[in-house]
Amino acid sequence: MLKIVVMVSGGGTNLQAIIDGVKDGKITNTEIAGVISNNRNAYALKRAEENKIPGLCISPKDYESREIFNEKLLEAVDGFAPDLIVLAGFLVVIPPEMTAKYKNRMINIHPSLIPSFCGKGFYGLKVHEAALERGVKVVGATVHFVDEGTDTGPIILQKAVEVQQGDTPEVLQRRVMEQAEWIILPRAIDLIANGKVRVEDHRTWIEE
Ligand code: GRF
Repeated sequence: MLKIVVMVSGGGTNLQAIIDGVKDGKITNTEIAGVISNNRNAYALKRAEENKIPGLCISPKDYESREIFNEKLLEAVDGFAPDLIVLAGFLVVIPPEMTAKYKNRMINIHPSLIPSFCGKGFYGLKVHEAALERGVKVVGATVHFVDEGTDTGPIILQKAVEVQQGDTPEVLQRRVMEQAEWIILPRAIDLIANGKVRVEDHRTWIEE
């Protein structure tokens, strides 16, 4: 059984997709051990509570330094003894110690087809604003392992989504969530839970 901890900062629609996937059997062999947010008002924490999943808020605002926050965050994660950490819209920089300790055991969902529109400053709506500004015709989402960089780890799954005439950033964000994020994140977790993802150099191999 794969024990996962999901880290969130906002509405938690990706968390909800994972919860629903475990419930309806799309995600097998997996247990959500806990949810951790840096934002006490994150609706994602409410979703955890509604589904009887332990939720924690570890906020940088509650600690006198980033170093102490980083220590407390890693302690909280370790407390769940996860096999896999899932970053689902988590907007705080992951402490290097945590990235090193969970190498190839921490994944992230990014709302673009990496390597487009990713890296520092590309998160949430900003990603979709940049895509519309550039005038691309296809966008999408990526699930990747987290390494020491920003959105630079080995790619696990990607799914493309069409841009439509007149799209606003909000409309495009929603379509990318519905048609890509909420599909590939649960699928990536299920593949990992069943030992079907192998990392070689900087790429992954998926055994269907
Ligand atoms: C989504 O836009 C996702 O692509 C990005 O952060 C946002 C999280 O949304 N990683 P939610 O909290 O899962 O609804």
